[in-house]
Amino acid sequence: MIYTIEAENYRIELGSLQESSFEYFMNVNYPNSRKIILVDENTNEHCLEYLLTSYSFLSNAEVIVLPQGEENKVMDICMQVWETWSEYGFERQDVLINLGGGVITDMGGFIASLYKRGIDFVNIPTSLLAMVDASIGGKTGVDLGSYKNQIGLFVNPKAVFIDPGFIHSLPEGEVFNGFAEMLKHGLALNEGHWNELVTMIDVVKEINEEHIYNSLLLKNTIVLEDPFESDLRKKLNFGHTIGHALEGYFFENDPISHGYAVALGILAESYISFKRNYLTLSEFSQIEKVLLMHYFPIDLSNESLNEIYQLMKNDKKNKNGEIKCVLLISIGQSVINKTISELEIIDSLEYLNRLFLEAKKD
Ligand SMILES: NC(=O)c1ccc[n+]([C@@H]2O[C@H](COP(=O)([O-])OP(=O)(O)OC[C@H]3O[C@@H](n4cnc5c(N)ncnc54)[C@H](O)[C@@H]3O)[C@@H](O)[C@H]2O)c1
Repeated sequence: MIYTIEAENYRIELGSLQESSFEYFMNVNYPNSRKIILVDENTNEHCLEYLLTSYSFLSNAEVIVLPQGEENKVMDICMQVWETWSEYGFERQDVLINLGGGVITDMGGFIASLYKRGIDFVNIPTSLLAMVDASIGGKTGVDLGSYKNQIGLFVNPKAVFIDPGFIHSLPEGEVFNGFAEMLKHGLALNEGHWNELVTMIDVVKEINEEHIYNSLLLKNTIVLEDPFESDLRKKLNFGHTIGHALEGYFFENDPISHGYAVALGILAESYISFKRNYLTLSEFSQIEKVLLMHYFPIDLSNESLNEIYQLMKNDKKNKNGEIKCVLLISIGQSVINKTISELEIIDSLEYLNRLFLEAKKD
């Protein structure tokens, strides 16, 4: 069965790629275009063959392989790709297929949108995180040093084909990275989704197509209401104000994944919501229990706290130098544009560190 979701000006299909309209879509829209496939070294190894052996129309596709990892989501790599495309003589009517996780869909969309003032791209996400979040919604871009997604554009793909089969080769830790964004969707937007996720004991085994569908439907609905994040869409940033700062802080020495950083950000921002009496003790305790069941807390030295705070001060979502955050008022309901103080931030980071010290003891 194929689930179909109408997005802003494109269609998302979820289900086996071979049962989807991928081939038809490409033949109708790009019969004479050259096809470029962007992969990273892991999706080159684990996902590309399936695509190439399933579709003869891709037999002449040019495959561009990028190094894997967030540290490569940078302008230098984009420059190299643009130079290669230029050498190969790709034209404006050619089309890019992004086959990868969120790094490939974010960066591929960005590269495509600027090459010759924009070529079309199609996303085939291969990580859980990209399936439920990164591949839809039109945010594309790259990082600038420790600052995440600092350079970017809102540009929609022409279509998104989500085949959960790709998850089979995904390392377990990466499943939890995607799961963090799903928990975020539940907490910030819909209690029912949260409830269906928290019953899972073995996430890797239990996650299924319906969970993915429900999660991406929540994201798509909010993006449709507020595509350029002037208002409601900001709810999707729950867990990200502190999460991005943690990701940025650890980036230089001992990088942590985006999903793990978001899980920690969810804990810290739920803690602030609880301290403000927005969340009840029982709601907060449930969030803490679920998060700690799947994610080990992080070691934050006293010296790191101020540096993490400084990174937050430079978040692109700030207004007039104030640090804005999404907070929870109950499970499934969130409020945007809440100014959080230095004291609250440091307190929440100390809370994370206490969790680490307690977990280490056990
Ligand atoms: N645009 C958005 O709205 C949005 C939303 C959330 C996150 N993001 C971005 O997404 C990125 C994180 O995405 P991610 O977690 O997918 O990272 P990622 O693309 O780095 O993928 C994680 C790892 O899994 C590997 N991988 C992916 N699919 C695989 C498969 N099927 N089999 C084996 N290995 C596979 C990748 O090579 C990589 O090593 C971040 O850059 C984040 O900023 C964007």
